[in-house]
Amino acid sequence: MKQIYLNDVVGRDGLQNEDVFVPTDDKIKLINQLSDAGVDKIEVTSFVSPKAVPNLRDAEEVMRGIKRKSDVVYSALVPNMKGAERALDCEVDEINLLVSASNTHNLKNVRRSTDDTFENFKPMMEFLSNKDAAIKGSLGTSFGCPFEGDIPEERVLELIEKYLELGVDGVTLADTTGMATPNHVYNLCKNILKQWPHLDITLHFHNTRGMGLANVMEGIRAGVNSFDASLGGLGGCPFAPGATGNICMEDLAHMLYFMGYEIEADVDKLIGTSKYLQTLVNHELPGQVVKAGKIADLHSVATF
Ligand code: COA
Ligand code: ZN
Repeated sequence: MKQIYLNDVVGRDGLQNEDVFVPTDDKIKLINQLSDAGVDKIEVTSFVSPKAVPNLRDAEEVMRGIKRKSDVVYSALVPNMKGAERALDCEVDEINLLVSASNTHNLKNVRRSTDDTFENFKPMMEFLSNKDAAIKGSLGTSFGCPFEGDIPEERVLELIEKYLELGVDGVTLADTTGMATPNHVYNLCKNILKQWPHLDITLHFHNTRGMGLANVMEGIRAGVNSFDASLGGLGGCPFAPGATGNICMEDLAHMLYFMGYEIEADVDKLIGTSKYLQTLVNHELPGQVVKAGKIADLHSVATF
C-alpha cells in the first residue's frame, strides 16, 4: 500500500507552547530518540526571536547537539533573514518559511502583514538559493483563522502561487487552530493538486476539535502523502487563542500501520519516546495509544 511520510514537529510546535523550558540536553535526547524511531523528518526547533518564544532560545545548541541519521531530514522553522542565517550556521537540512494566510494572525505571529512577509522572503530566498538547504513554505491558518474565520480557497491558491514564484521546494498547509473539516481538506487539496499536480504538499493538522485523523484520511484520499504530527499530541501556537496540540504522532503512525500503509516509523519506539516526553513536560499528554496500547496488545481473560 501507498507510502506515507511522517514529520515530527514536537521539538518546535510541541515545546514552543509549554509552560516549562525543557532543558537542552533533554531536548537533544528526545530528538535522538525520534531519529531512532524512524520518522522521516524532524522539525527540531525554530530560529525565531528568543523574546517571542523563550522555550526555543537554545535552538543552536539543540541543532548542533543532536546525532543526525542520514535517512532523516532535520528541519527548522525560520521567520526572517536573521533566522535563516542562524539555521544555515547549524547546517539544517531544510528551512521552513513561516507566513499565515490570515493577515490578522500573521500580524500577531510575526508582527508583519502577509504581504510584507512575502516581500521579506525575497532577499531570504536569494541568500538561500546557492546553499544546500531545501526550502519549504508553510502557510498557517490555511483552513481557517481564529480571528478572521473562513479563509477562502482563492486566498490559499494565491499564496501558494507566491511561494512557488519565490522558488520553494514544497508547501505545508497548516491548520493552526484545528478548524479544518474533512471535506474542506479533501476539496482544497484536490483543487490545489488539479492546478499543480506535482506540488509537494505536507498537511499540518491540530486536533483542537477532534478532526485531526479524519482530516489526514481525506488528505490521503485527495493525493497527499506527507503529514506533520507531534509526539504525544503536544503543540500549539502561542500567538493564536485556543490553540491546542497537533495530531499525535504515535496515534497517526498506529492508525496508518494497522490500515496497511507503508511507514518507516516504528510504533513501539514512538510509544516509548512519548512516555519519555511525558516525564519532560510533567503532565498528561493528549495521545491515546500510549494509554490504551496498540490494537494488537491483547489482554488475558484470567486477569480481567
Ligand atoms: N532570531 C533571533 N533573534 C531575532 C530574530 C531571529 N530570527 N529575529 C529578530 N530577532 C531579534 C532582533 O535581533 C531584535 O533584538 P533586540 O531587541 O535585542 O535588538 C528583536 O528580535 C526584534 O527584532 P525585529 O526584527 O524588530 O523583530 P520583531 O520584534 O518585529 O519580531 C519576529 C518579528 C518574527 C522575529 C518575532 O515576532 C518572532 O520571532 N515570532 C515568533 C513566531 C513564532 O515562532 N510563532 C510560533 C510558530 S507558529
Ligand atoms: Zn502547528
